[in-house]
Amino acid sequence: MTAPQPLIAGNWKMNGLGASLEEARAVAAGLGDTPARVAICPPSILIHRMASALGGGPLLIGGQDHHWDDAGAFTGDVSAEMLADAGASLVILGHSERRAGYRETDELVASKVKAALKYGLEPIVCVGETLDERKAGKALEIVTGQVRGSLPSELAGKTFSVAYEPVWAIGTGLTPTTPEIEEVHRAIRATLVEMFGEAGKRVPILYGGSVKPGNAAEILHADEVGGALVGGASLKAADFLGIIRAL
Ligand code: 13P
Repeated sequence: MTAPQPLIAGNWKMNGLGASLEEARAVAAGLGDTPARVAICPPSILIHRMASALGGGPLLIGGQDHHWDDAGAFTGDVSAEMLADAGASLVILGHSERRAGYRETDELVASKVKAALKYGLEPIVCVGETLDERKAGKALEIVTGQVRGSLPSELAGKTFSVAYEPVWAIGTGLTPTTPEIEEVHRAIRATLVEMFGEAGKRVPILYGGSVKPGNAAEILHADEVGGALVGGASLKAADFLGIIRAL
């Protein structure tokens, strides 16, 4: 069984203006011969401009979220089809900032995943426990439950990834120990194999939460870690490239 090709994705969250396209250009120029697929997920309003600025090179572009429906009276929202039309090929779904801040449930995330697949977007589905859940010894139960609930059966045969992002590690500078990351990633892998059989072995499981150039090598080489979902450190090309080169 060949290991899945690693995926390193930068989640810009609600950061970035036109001037930030320079950072994306610098990342594209610095990719070299990385074995990873690399993506930047900027705010949706920058996707089209980023696609034009990059001119179709190897750096992939992703969205950060989209509505579950195709189109209609959903003021302020964007659809999966719109992201794809603008130039995205991937999308982050079920990020904890959306689960917590916008009350997204596993069922809602699963319906968004189906919409992504309908329009050819590759989903990066996020899962992760809170600090209270970890302290209560429930990290594995919570995370594997989110995997089961957020990944619809329609993903069978499709390209997608799962990102494990402990909520307490996001933007805090805190990270789990390597054995803690490996324990959760192994549990996610077992759940993926239960759900998708052999194909579940080829789904990259990304780690996210305070990944920086200084800790990237250890995290990226941990067992069952198939890449990273990077927030703050993806905003500066030098830092993001430092992470990519740690692979
Ligand atoms: P940070 O890398 O800033 O901790 O963010 C992680 C994250 O939420 C990526 O989706």
